[in-house]
Amino acid sequence: MKKWILILPLIYGLGWMVPAWSQTDPAIEAKVDALLARMTLEEKIGQMNQYNGFWNFTGPAPAGGEAANKFDNLKSGMVGSMLNVRGVENVRKVQELALQSRLHIPLIIGFDVIHGYQTLSPIPLAEAASWDLAAIQRSAKVAATEAAASGINWTFAPMVDISRDARWGRVMEGAGEDPFLGAQIAAARVQGFQGRDLSDPLTIAACVKHFAAYGFAEAGRDYNTVDIGTSTLYNMVLPPFKAAANAGARTFMNSFNEINGIPATANALLQRDILKGQWGFTGFVVSDWGSIGELIPHGLARDGKQAAELAVNAGSDMDMESYNYLNHLKSLVESGQVDEALITDAARRILRVKFELGLFDDPYRYCDEERERTMIGNSDEMDAVLQMAKKSIVLLKNENALLPLPKSGKKVALIGPLAADKTSPLGSWRPAADDGTAISVLEGMERYSGNRLMHYPGVKLFEGEPAFVTELQINETDTTGFAAAVNGAKQADVVVMVLGEHGLMTGEGRSRAFIDIPGLQEELLKAVLAVNSQVVLVLMNGRPLAIDWEAEHVPAIVEAWHLGTQSGNAIAQVLYGDYNPSGKLPMSFPRSVGQVPIYYNHKSTGRPDRAGGGMVFWSHYNDESNDPLYPFGFGIGYSKMAYSDLRVTRGSGNSITVQVNVRNMGKLAGEEVVQVYIHDLVASVTRPVKELKAFEKVSLSAGESRTVRFTLDESSLGFYNNDGHWVFEPGDFMIMAGGNSVDVLQEKITIQ
Ligand code: BGC
Repeated sequence: MKKWILILPLIYGLGWMVPAWSQTDPAIEAKVDALLARMTLEEKIGQMNQYNGFWNFTGPAPAGGEAANKFDNLKSGMVGSMLNVRGVENVRKVQELALQSRLHIPLIIGFDVIHGYQTLSPIPLAEAASWDLAAIQRSAKVAATEAAASGINWTFAPMVDISRDARWGRVMEGAGEDPFLGAQIAAARVQGFQGRDLSDPLTIAACVKHFAAYGFAEAGRDYNTVDIGTSTLYNMVLPPFKAAANAGARTFMNSFNEINGIPATANALLQRDILKGQWGFTGFVVSDWGSIGELIPHGLARDGKQAAELAVNAGSDMDMESYNYLNHLKSLVESGQVDEALITDAARRILRVKFELGLFDDPYRYCDEERERTMIGNSDEMDAVLQMAKKSIVLLKNENALLPLPKSGKKVALIGPLAADKTSPLGSWRPAADDGTAISVLEGMERYSGNRLMHYPGVKLFEGEPAFVTELQINETDTTGFAAAVNGAKQADVVVMVLGEHGLMTGEGRSRAFIDIPGLQEELLKAVLAVNSQVVLVLMNGRPLAIDWEAEHVPAIVEAWHLGTQSGNAIAQVLYGDYNPSGKLPMSFPRSVGQVPIYYNHKSTGRPDRAGGGMVFWSHYNDESNDPLYPFGFGIGYSKMAYSDLRVTRGSGNSITVQVNVRNMGKLAGEEVVQVYIHDLVASVTRPVKELKAFEKVSLSAGESRTVRFTLDESSLGFYNNDGHWVFEPGDFMIMAGGNSVDVLQEKITIQ
């Protein structure tokens, strides 16, 4: 039983108000003040306007047509930023236009550098599967270096939305379902993009998105309504945003969804009270693409003018592509509906970041042709993304040690529409990378084995040419390639099948109602298995898939996601045992789509099990298990890791020490992610049955055993109450440790 509740305002409440990172540089503040003093109202509003460039589009064109007077507005200081302009030559051109304005204020240039620029890392969800924060930080640094060398100084990343619903296409952009892992990764990515010094021309400003709760779109349908309680908001949604803010992220992006009836773009609680108020955020907030205008179809604003009023009052500082700030803010201020102080504050925030980036010292700081030639796609970057890709692979099943494959002596048939594909593995969100630039599995396996392989696509993934739009016509009819593939499988000792989703089947606007392996691929798999049982399934996908049948019938399954430029090399190293897979799932894999949303850190319910509810009256399905197919945190390697000797002891104050022994039982050296979960058994607000609170990735040589130690204190054992205060409630805690969220050792401890 809880005896008392300790509210911790100093550490988690007031501490938010003046965190060290939010201290602004007095020298920069003086310059911002001086500039603001010279600016007209219109010029300040100009800073709040962001235009799309003249090339890539990453959202729908504005309803009234694209801005016709972009050039004139650039020259008259009515544009503070552009997105989707890239390449030194192009950035220089738009910067030259902006510098013709009265006060010569440079543009900040934004771009979606989501998992690399031209040299691509794995998609963010895959990177999260590495649980390797140093590698993730390095990957973000590589992305920043290349983008900066191409003239860009601001990325719309990291996306830190917690996501539990595999139907949502944007799960590929985040770190999965867990707020603790998500928070660590959010901070690592911010540090990777921004480095130590934002004015270094090889670092770029991060933009933490989408603030907030976008990942909770109902039914997994993109842009859909979000309706979550405050407990979920504070404990699940906000922690990665807060961690990113604490890591010094200089910008935030709001989101398309409404939450509790208020669209995020017009949400003052989120933007003014929490972000800029409690967290003391001194950077600026950009709207999502057109989201200020979308306040009208949401049913919150009657027209663009009211939309601008609501958004600016709520704390949205920059308008991405809806033009409502430019069109209406001046008259709103003149009529007294908007306080000019809010406009000055928004302009101040935007100018501050421009000064921090060094753009006022040299507006062409990011425009160096020599850097652009030498710093994109160089060997260091290729090596970093290859290392990242290997670490992102998750081995899900390996019956009878079918893997690793020997490099010679066994005849291997490589089958599947994605086996030789050099585009799909690049994944979604890669506007600066060209099609066909990934190493395919075929190329990787031939390179690492030194042999030519038999290869049969079996089916084409698409009927016709894949379109950019979401309606990809997955092949459901053409089986003409089956015979050759089945025949090849008959002659082989082992079959490697590469199946899954095309890279563009995930990402924005790419929700799916069915999350199985699409098209004829499953049928092909069954036909091959009928003639050769020795099948290794290599999955490429941007979301958890429902692969219940495959998990039962296929002896080995490798989750290879969309791994980016070095995909085939990374996969080949794992298949041949040059790298012992070490990834762990950052999202639960369902057995069927009907279980979605499925996540490990759920609440208990009043009737959690059959024992309490008899045959019928307990929380379950009649036709499906409650359990995921593969749980959060799951992944095996070529060496079995055995856990023993969990010891949980009281430390000083209300802290506890957790120790657990891990032994590498195999013949190969390997890495293991040791995970610690807690369950606060009784609390004033119900707590999840498990919450990840610590992890460490350890390397163990064959036979090696290690005791891994963790300390948990009130900052781990507490939670946010429904007022958004962090509280620690003494009482009983179940402490669990293991190699995934299900197979754990556990011990109860009481903190009085
Ligand atoms: C997406 C953002 C993205 C922006 C700019 C929007 O549609 O939701 O994540 O950064 O477009 O491309």
